[in-house]
Amino acid sequence: MSSVIKAESVSKVYQDKGVPVQALQGVDLEIEEGDFAAIAGPSGSGKTTFLNLVGTLDTVSGGKILIDNQDIATLSPRELAKIRLYKLGFVFQAYNLIPVLTCKENAEFVLLLQKVPAQERQKRVDDLLSTVGLGEMKHRLPRELSGGQQQRVAIVRAIASHPRVVLADEPTANLDSKTGKALMELMQELNKNYGIAFFFSTHDPMVMEAAKKLITLKDGKIVDIKKR
Ligand SMILES: Nc1ncnc2c1ncn2[C@@H]1O[C@H](COP(=O)(O)OP(=O)(O)OP(=O)(O)O)[C@@H](O)[C@H]1O
Ligand SMILES: [Mg+2]
Repeated sequence: MSSVIKAESVSKVYQDKGVPVQALQGVDLEIEEGDFAAIAGPSGSGKTTFLNLVGTLDTVSGGKILIDNQDIATLSPRELAKIRLYKLGFVFQAYNLIPVLTCKENAEFVLLLQKVPAQERQKRVDDLLSTVGLGEMKHRLPRELSGGQQQRVAIVRAIASHPRVVLADEPTANLDSKTGKALMELMQELNKNYGIAFFFSTHDPMVMEAAKKLITLKDGKIVDIKKR
């Protein structure tokens, strides 16, 4: 299996009004092609910090992170933007859809940036929106959808660009348990059908159960990795 993300002795220290806060320490981890991995751990254990580092939204204090075998610390801001655009998909807890764009336009947005031709763009987004059961609602604005429906649009947006890995920070946190479960099943299906790796943080036991690789963090360190 080829490695999509590799973390080697990653540490992160924040400065809180001049006081150092060690958020991560000596984290070694590999996410491979097609993985379905979750990172769990108590509040403050460093999950979001780690996802932000992997997402190139923040920089490490020590160690390194490789995406597709490239050390991201050696890349220019322009090259990092390219990695985010072509290799990573993002799903946030708060959906982050653009309020004035329809579902379809939101889902198409990354493909526009990638300069995917119009016809191909339409086809990919229409197919995916139907797959997630939103074919009939594609012209609605985000505020005309439920939380679970908005999160499905966010997932379509994240995978339509055919990234190597989708990063999701607590994707089910704002959803009721039934909607959260449906969303997990959807992600599993997309993982199986498109071979896209998923890497998410979670507190949710149902999500932990669904993960093929479960990493547990405590006080910024990995204390357990379970595979099944
Ligand atoms: N910008 C920041 N400045 C200072 N400290 C921070 C900052 N961001 C996070 N921290 C601290 O780093 C540690 C890890 O935080 P992080 O947000 O990664 O945890 P988490 O596991 O995602 O928690 P939660 O489950 O509550 O989302 C915490 O002690 C937190 O207070
Ligand atoms: Mg968090």
